[in-house]
Amino acid sequence: MSYPGSGIFEVDLVFPRNATYTPQALMPIVWALHNPSMAPPLASYITWSLWEGNNQTSPGSLDGGLIELLVGDASNDRMISKFSNSIDYPDGYWTLAWSLEIANCSQYTGPSHAVTRGGSTIFTVSKSGEEPDLVAATSAGQCDAIYAYAFNVTSFGSACGHLGQTPTTNPCAVNISSSAASSLYASATASACAPNTVVNPNVTCPTSTSTSSASIPASQSLMVTRTALMMLLVGIINFILMG
Ligand SMILES: *[C@@H]1O[C@H](CO)[C@@H](O)[C@H](O)[C@H]1NC(C)=O
Ligand SMILES: *[C@@H]1O[C@H](CO)[C@@H](O)[C@H](O)[C@H]1NC(C)=O
Ligand SMILES: *[C@@H]1O[C@H](CO)[C@@H](O)[C@H](O)[C@H]1NC(C)=O
Ligand SMILES: *[C@@H]1O[C@H](CO)[C@@H](O)[C@H](O)[C@H]1NC(C)=O
Ligand SMILES: *[C@@H]1O[C@H](CO)[C@@H](O)[C@H](O)[C@H]1NC(C)=O
Ligand SMILES: *[C@@H]1O[C@H](CO)[C@@H](O)[C@H](O)[C@H]1NC(C)=O
Repeated sequence: MSYPGSGIFEVDLVFPRNATYTPQALMPIVWALHNPSMAPPLASYITWSLWEGNNQTSPGSLDGGLIELLVGDASNDRMISKFSNSIDYPDGYWTLAWSLEIANCSQYTGPSHAVTRGGSTIFTVSKSGEEPDLVAATSAGQCDAIYAYAFNVTSFGSACGHLGQTPTTNPCAVNISSSAASSLYASATASACAPNTVVNPNVTCPTSTSTSSASIPASQSLMVTRTALMMLLVGIINFILMG
């Protein structure tokens, strides 16, 4: 795989915002990566969890989400999306907590993820709220409210980056077009309707699913499980090395 020798790596939480949204069977959570091809050589990943009210194990909460940023598209900003169900729960506020980790060569003696950035966003779900709108979220009037973290990677080491001074972030460079938004929803619907998933009755599934396309989500989730196990192993090794 080839990647730029240096440049700005940035991760933005595009959605949700601190706002009130109508209940959704597929409530979007979207991050954008700038220079996504830098993500793998920086050994970067995102962890996240989502819960309602004050209770991190409340019904509908999602804990321990892990997204390895193993993408390699050299030029485009890359969207990472997850969808959660907020329709089956009472109106109230939700917390999305997330953190981004990247490996800083100057800061370590083993393969540890030394730099952590992140935060939490609180949003409200209410029938009187607004519809989630990914296109509007990245529009000129709204993009500056995006949580963004940027790194100036001056060169790469072995699974880490040499980081210069923290650059300014550039969240307004990300645009989600309506066709890009539709395709995020389409793939979310496809996974929500995949065989062997508990189908949320509020998600409208396509009426016929061919067997060939049906086999894809299952193998993808297997891959996710395997890489998650690998990350766990790396974490344990780090722990041993550091301990
Ligand atoms: C979220 O929005 C509410 C209402 O506009 C505002 O009062 C609150 O300060 C905001 N919180 C953050 C963390 O921005
Ligand atoms: C949190 O939610 C879980 C699941 O409904 C429940 O078992 C637990 O008692 C709740 N905890 C608190 C502190 O309310
Ligand atoms: C990377 O590590 C060096 C050495 O500890 C430190 O000075 C620098 O601030 C770190 N960079 C970031 C972005 O944390
Ligand atoms: C990134 O670091 C390089 C090398 O120090 C520097 O030339 C460049 O201006 C920096 N870029 C930004 C956006 O800070
Ligand atoms: C994103 O949209 C803004 C205004 O809507 C425009 O100025 C900007 O050039 C667009 N950026 C990209 C990368 O398409
Ligand atoms: C979601 O699905 C449940 C179960 O079918 C149904 O009772 C409920 O009315 C649906 N909610 C909405 C908002 O459509």
